[in-house]
Amino acid sequence: MAARRRGSALRLCATVFLLDMAFSKGYVEDLDESFKENRKDDIWLVDFYAPWCGHCKKLEPVWNEVGLEMKSIGSPVKVGKMDATSYSSIASEFGVRGYPTIKLLKGDLAYNYRGPRTKDDIIEFAHRVSGALIRPLPSQQMFEHVQKRHRVFFVYIGGESPLKEKYIDAASELIVYTYFFSASEEVVPEYVTLKEMPAVLVFKDETYFVYDEYEDGDLSSWINRERFQNYLTMDGFLLYELGDTGKLVAIAVIDEKNTSVEHTRLKSIIQEVARDYRDQFHRDFQFGHMDGNDYINTLLMDELKVPTVVVLNTSNQQYFLLDRQIKNAEDMVQFINNVLDGTVDAQGGDSILQRLKRIVFDAKSTIVSIFRSSPLMGCFLFGLPLGVISIMCYGIYTADTDGGYIEERYEGSKSETQSPEPVEESKEKQEPRSGDSLVPAVQEPKDVLEKKKD
Ligand SMILES: *[C@@H]1O[C@H](CO)[C@@H](O)[C@H](O)[C@H]1NC(C)=O
Ligand SMILES: *[C@@H]1O[C@H](CO)[C@@H](O)[C@H](O)[C@H]1NC(C)=O
Repeated sequence: MAARRRGSALRLCATVFLLDMAFSKGYVEDLDESFKENRKDDIWLVDFYAPWCGHCKKLEPVWNEVGLEMKSIGSPVKVGKMDATSYSSIASEFGVRGYPTIKLLKGDLAYNYRGPRTKDDIIEFAHRVSGALIRPLPSQQMFEHVQKRHRVFFVYIGGESPLKEKYIDAASELIVYTYFFSASEEVVPEYVTLKEMPAVLVFKDETYFVYDEYEDGDLSSWINRERFQNYLTMDGFLLYELGDTGKLVAIAVIDEKNTSVEHTRLKSIIQEVARDYRDQFHRDFQFGHMDGNDYINTLLMDELKVPTVVVLNTSNQQYFLLDRQIKNAEDMVQFINNVLDGTVDAQGGDSILQRLKRIVFDAKSTIVSIFRSSPLMGCFLFGLPLGVISIMCYGIYTADTDGGYIEERYEGSKSETQSPEPVEESKEKQEPRSGDSLVPAVQEPKDVLEKKKD
């Protein structure tokens, strides 16, 4: 009797579970060629996937949850997915080059999502990009509320002006990364002093900085440099993004699982310098720590001893190391000053010799991984039209859907941490790993935001 009851309870559970699955799937529309015509009046969040791609399969349950949640909160954003191999001409019109590609399509604009593939991050992105470009802050309470919610945000203060137009332009390009607000002078906290109006401010690190047209240059590039907190937990994804800033990045490379004093001390030294010497260094420097040396070794083509401190120049790929341990914050400041005045020798860089070294290094790792992994390798030939690639992959692809060369390299380097995957299944995805990636000093806005003329 009890057994039978248990049995039916189980069956009920299974049914509810299956229903639940079917239910949440129902909120993601399967898109086909009619999408191009039908999408016009709506804002769409679309996952362009390929049936054979492992990362796409991992994204699928997350995507279903995104669809369900967007529906249940009554978001105006519609959630869809498109098999980019079946509708390759549409996919390439939207600029899809790797799988999965997540895009928010809003009128003539297509915004790429490049963050971690978690439900919350994706939904946050959809809210930010689909909402008002510049959000007004009508009261002090609203300002405080925003300050609690966002670690970094930009505020325009003043009336109509040429600066405001530039601010709007910058926001339409950079809304994929950060938040833009506008407010009147009365709304900002009392500790903010403005020499002139209108002004653009960034609030972060428990303080604020004012944009100075003469010292800081173009507003967009200033926003691009200032959109990060001063101290960051670095990973490959972030370092790749920091390539846009052209700043120097000082990183404590440590083993977070190692509780010995050498590791923890190095991290706190960098934190201390980031905090106490902010005024001196914040224009030129970004600070942080990184867990493990795998990523950085690939980047520098060198074998770093952990723990250590490395300073990277994101505009020319050079790096600076000390042959001794940093003892305290003063010591670190000394090191930074020596980097700035040229008394520490730079290593690496993007000279011809370094590029050759990179080619050899990449070729070596590629050969190693070909021997270790599946023939999926063929999929990473870059630049071929999607259709050809998909046919090739279909043909070549044999077993192991979740394997593949890039993923293996990536997971190998990231050890057990199940953190977000910046790496994508295409040559494009490889970027965050390669040394070249530090270079795109000016990432073309096109890359993030493509104007669609259709
Ligand atoms: C922790 O780091 C120290 C110093 O680098 C090293 O000697 C020690 O072996 C490490 N311990 C573990 C458990 O990895
Ligand atoms: C970083 O690279 C840029 C571009 O090559 C260069 O102008 C700058 O001097 C470098 N900074 C340091 C500290 O070497």
